[in-house]
Amino acid sequence: MGFPKGFYWGGATAANQYEGAWNVDGKGDSLPDHMRGGSFETPRQIDATLDAGALYPSHEATDFYHHYEEDIALFAEMGWNIFRMSINWTRIFPTGEETEPNEEGLAFYERVFDCCLAHGITPLVTISHYELPYHLVEKYNGWASRELIDLYFRYGKALLDRFAGKVKHWLTFNEINVAGAPFGAALSLGTVQGYTGTMANLPDDINLRMNALHNQLVASAKLVKYAHEAHPGTMMGNMDCFILSYPETCDPADQWANLEGMRYFNWYSSDVQARGAYPTWARRMWAERGIEIEMQPGDEELLREGTIDFYTLSYYMSNVVGTHDTLEESAGNMTQGGKNPYLESSEWGWQIDPTGLRIALNEIWDRYQLPIMVVENGFGAKDEVEPDGSIHDDYRISYLRKHVAAMHEAVDDGVGLIGYTWWGPIDVVSAGTGEMRKRYGFIYVDKHDDGTGTLARSRKDSFFYYQKVIARNGEDLD
Ligand code: BG6
Repeated sequence: MGFPKGFYWGGATAANQYEGAWNVDGKGDSLPDHMRGGSFETPRQIDATLDAGALYPSHEATDFYHHYEEDIALFAEMGWNIFRMSINWTRIFPTGEETEPNEEGLAFYERVFDCCLAHGITPLVTISHYELPYHLVEKYNGWASRELIDLYFRYGKALLDRFAGKVKHWLTFNEINVAGAPFGAALSLGTVQGYTGTMANLPDDINLRMNALHNQLVASAKLVKYAHEAHPGTMMGNMDCFILSYPETCDPADQWANLEGMRYFNWYSSDVQARGAYPTWARRMWAERGIEIEMQPGDEELLREGTIDFYTLSYYMSNVVGTHDTLEESAGNMTQGGKNPYLESSEWGWQIDPTGLRIALNEIWDRYQLPIMVVENGFGAKDEVEPDGSIHDDYRISYLRKHVAAMHEAVDDGVGLIGYTWWGPIDVVSAGTGEMRKRYGFIYVDKHDDGTGTLARSRKDSFFYYQKVIARNGEDLD
């Protein structure tokens, strides 16, 4: 058994964390352009008004904008046949409200896609990956407003119409389900109108978040429906941040708490996107959590008609849920969860659990029977550059090896897994902390938290390991 022939191997990035060139060639400012860098201890700050003296990590990031040819050549050298990347909405519609797209923005992505295709790499494109135009935050309070549905549709349609001949695989929203967690109000929903302050003190209103998520789900369905009608053969996917959780004990109360937690965070959005309707348990959940979804005529029909063709997820860690006061807190993926004594954690508190990936993939497959891609998985760590320039990142290799082995098991279990894209295959800015030193890359970029660095690229040991994994199609992982 093992990975099927033609399995997709590659890496994943997001424009705001990678591209830089934040105000070049007509690009407008997006929400992440208003976010300063932080650290594990110090939360990032959002500035309603940009401070000329402050450092905003997305402004230069690791400058894919001016290095794309070199970077894609390195990806090809690793043997990739897929590259997940995102489009910066504000490169195409600088404020989000223009009626015509910015040609310079479209032309940039056209060059990138052409370069990928010339290297035999299939582009997989996220339409919205934490890159909301800041103007839409200011004017509409982001996704709190239904106006965003049509503005997003105009943006997505412009991409599909221009690139359908070059791009077949699209994801409508990155980690759409993070709206379920308070931090989702910022990067995902943009419901931070007028807000200056840290990510730790975001104003929180669960009813507003879940209605903003509803608007995103309707927008996603509307675009999926359009893609299917106007560009047959296009593959439209969701993208969920899957955080598997385990009950702390066999106490039935813990089991139920975990089931509810799994439903709320991991299944709610994808049930809508894959099945075309809110799950039957949603009504009770809404009532118990004080949520009233403002459903408009036509919404349910759109949700039904705009279901996805494949399911994608990010997977980094698992958590523990319980009702007893014995449960210790642990950090992770911009969320909190319970500590698992059987697992080790990264320096940022993310609990490493490859078996959890096998479990998650089996559960997703059993539930939806749709092709699955793991479009983010990775290990953030501090790297040491040796005097000769080499970087021995065994910790990253170990994480990769274990997760590829877990996917291999899942494939042998019968799961319809079709691809894997490692998160941050080249160093990019961390979304959660805004740091550079939390690196995921197989390719090192000489760029540091204080904004210094030559931006030179170099290969870490993991670069050669991943190259081998791909050449062997995931067999013989030693
Ligand atoms: C996912 C996001 O949540 O995790 C990425 O889709 C993000 O944008 C990745 O970078 C890793 O998180 P972090 O906070 O370590 O960058």
